[in-house]
Amino acid sequence: MPAFTATAPGKVILCGEHAVVYGQPALAVPVMGVRTRAVVRAEPQRPPSTARIQAPQIDLDDEWAHLPEDHPLRRCVSLVFQECGARQFPAFRLRLTSTIPIAAGLGSGAAAAVATIRALAAFLGHPLPVERVSALAFEVEKLHHGTPSGIDNTVIAYAQPIYYRKDLPLERLKVTRPFSLLIADSGVPSPTALTVAEVRRRWEADKEKYEALFSAMGEIARAARQLIEGGEPEQLGPLMTQNHALLREIGVSSPKLDRLVNVACKMGAYGAKLSGGGRGGNVIVLSPEDQVESLIFALTEAGAVRVIVTRVTSAIGGRRA
Ligand code: PMV
Repeated sequence: MPAFTATAPGKVILCGEHAVVYGQPALAVPVMGVRTRAVVRAEPQRPPSTARIQAPQIDLDDEWAHLPEDHPLRRCVSLVFQECGARQFPAFRLRLTSTIPIAAGLGSGAAAAVATIRALAAFLGHPLPVERVSALAFEVEKLHHGTPSGIDNTVIAYAQPIYYRKDLPLERLKVTRPFSLLIADSGVPSPTALTVAEVRRRWEADKEKYEALFSAMGEIARAARQLIEGGEPEQLGPLMTQNHALLREIGVSSPKLDRLVNVACKMGAYGAKLSGGGRGGNVIVLSPEDQVESLIFALTEAGAVRVIVTRVTSAIGGRRA
């Protein structure tokens, strides 16, 4: 019996997180060096319409039907059955493995959904187009936090840099000159649901102030797009650092994230900011090519538990887009 395998990359948000939930643009890029892999195999010896779900990283090994209804993997499976019109299905085993750190702002949840949806749809004989994969993964994202913008599932399903606005057609981000980013993990897990809900409470209490902060972040995202498409990625640094200051103002930074940003800037980075939901998770750093090693060292000294270097290009899986 053949195995049906699909993989999905991690992601980081370059700028515009949180503001994107309120309709502002944001930029996100895939992180191809970390991936989630889903493998679906038929198990003809087992009764039809049964499924075993295994995800060793989260200690999961259970029957699909025993998972709670709102379990993200159970939801993935139900959504694919519905999409493919599958009432009955041959017994299968789904195994998920991942090198994407969990709850670290690298999109582990969305990558698990995208890889699972792709592999399972292929197993059922209905491979899905990328826009449907992204749309189904968006439904799963709603379980992680109630009001996702859709940026994570989109950048991960398309595996390309994107300029994203909620509820608007996807715009690809053309990276005219590739550049490197350091992704420094603070080691503090931070569920996005908490910071998104907190920001919403603050926005409800003072809409005028928060709308102004979100618009400033939107301006940064527009300016950053122009620099990336105009082939001047080094100029992004100051915009990133400004975006970090705005994220601090909306209350989603932390002393550790601030320390990582400050150390990076002091040690020669063009700019740095927290990325994603905030409070914990990652800081992204734009580094001159000849400072990468010394910045990795400085960030580690300052408390980063892991630093990933990723190359931002418009290539899809190594091909030019
Ligand atoms: O999944 P994270 O932590 O990278 O955050 C996603 C970005 C937010 O803007 C905070 C939420 C969203 O749905 O856009």
